[in-house]
Amino acid sequence: MRERLDWKGTNFVTDPLWGDNGKGKIVDLMAQEADIVVRVNGGPNAGHTVRNKQGEFALHLVPSGIFNPSALCVLADTVVVNPTALVDEINSLKKAGVTIDAGNLLISKRAHLIMPWHIERDKLKEIARGGNKIGTTGKGIGPVYSDRANREGLLVGNLLSPDFEQKFDRELLWQEKLTSLMVGNKIVYDKESILDDLNKAKDTIGPMITNVLPTIRHYHDSGMKVLGEAGQGFLLDLDRGGYPYVTSSHPGVQGFSLATGIAPKDVERVIGVTKVYTTRVGEGPLPTELLDEVGQEIRDKGKEYGATTGRPRRCGWLDIPALRYGTQSGGIDALVLTKLDVFDSFDKVAICVGYNVGGREYKLLPDADNEFMMSAKPILKILPGWNQDTSSCRSFGKLPENAKKFVKEVERLVNIPIQMVSVGPSREETIVRNF
Ligand code: IMP
Repeated sequence: MRERLDWKGTNFVTDPLWGDNGKGKIVDLMAQEADIVVRVNGGPNAGHTVRNKQGEFALHLVPSGIFNPSALCVLADTVVVNPTALVDEINSLKKAGVTIDAGNLLISKRAHLIMPWHIERDKLKEIARGGNKIGTTGKGIGPVYSDRANREGLLVGNLLSPDFEQKFDRELLWQEKLTSLMVGNKIVYDKESILDDLNKAKDTIGPMITNVLPTIRHYHDSGMKVLGEAGQGFLLDLDRGGYPYVTSSHPGVQGFSLATGIAPKDVERVIGVTKVYTTRVGEGPLPTELLDEVGQEIRDKGKEYGATTGRPRRCGWLDIPALRYGTQSGGIDALVLTKLDVFDSFDKVAICVGYNVGGREYKLLPDADNEFMMSAKPILKILPGWNQDTSSCRSFGKLPENAKKFVKEVERLVNIPIQMVSVGPSREETIVRNF
């Protein structure tokens, strides 16, 4: 692998599809040269897997740039923070020898706090939805973002206010009323134990809480290397994904812009990370889903189980119409193709090049309409496999011919350059093509 990537300006790493495509690995790799790494959306619903010299980690809130001690990591205003989960994550990283303090991790004072009632409401709502459940991660994401939209709830910065306890009391009373209404009997939260947890969390994260926007702006304006890290994927965007089977934030370039105040036109490169096949976790349509032994083979070989919930991921062939939609609408101009090695022992592989819906062919998902996607029949193009190990390849030229053909075919179909190919989970198991 090339020693340095030599990327410039402000770059943003996101996912054009349903998440879990390997953003963590690519952010970790690019972050070795970053000055600042900003996590832009979502919260502990994310699970970013990183494997490098320091070990293997599943990060949920801490940006995947944390392994570069000289990069500043930031949680933006639009991230939602579970303070106790964040402190647990910080402590387990510290135990593994990773340096984390207010010198290299900042948390926006405007980010919302995920509290126990958000997690409870998330779970209660899913039960109430019954057969129409969304399949959320149960981390309180929908309820905390709805409090944000309602201009309610507690902000990370409130932890530092002298009148925090009064604010907390008001919030607690209100949340007890809300949850009691949901379950039909009186709910009382254990105030002392929640306050105790918050105070303990404050000991660790208190010095990291600040107004992060001027810092991000300063790095961007001085031409330093700014790296944005999205959570989830564009097909899970609250507005442009397949509502209601979505998350409650914005994983595309629009979300980066909301989080950082940097306009989409000022982002040098938006990188979409996507696997050689497509997965989804939770409910909602997945047009290329394979419910047979091939789907199971992909799941087993690709270890497709959620990094946050452990749920088996639904697997299918690479969905080009959805990828075209996610790249166009999510503002993506470069692709990274991951998990090529998972296909190493497949005799043949397929790519979904279009949909048949009611007898008409579509090459692009027109919008993320659930009914449309439910009725879409994938049109498959079958390609020969390569039956050869790719995990030791470090240059595109060294890949087996059929693997090269596969990559080039995806590039041709999406019409966006594939700048890196990942052939294994470790940082060095990466082919840098034309980055
Ligand atoms: P929530 O974000 O927990 O509310 O879940 C809403 C939907 O987004 C569900 O289908 C989840 O499975 C999905 N989701 C949330 N976070 C992730 C992620 O990091 N990767 C993949 N799917 C996710």
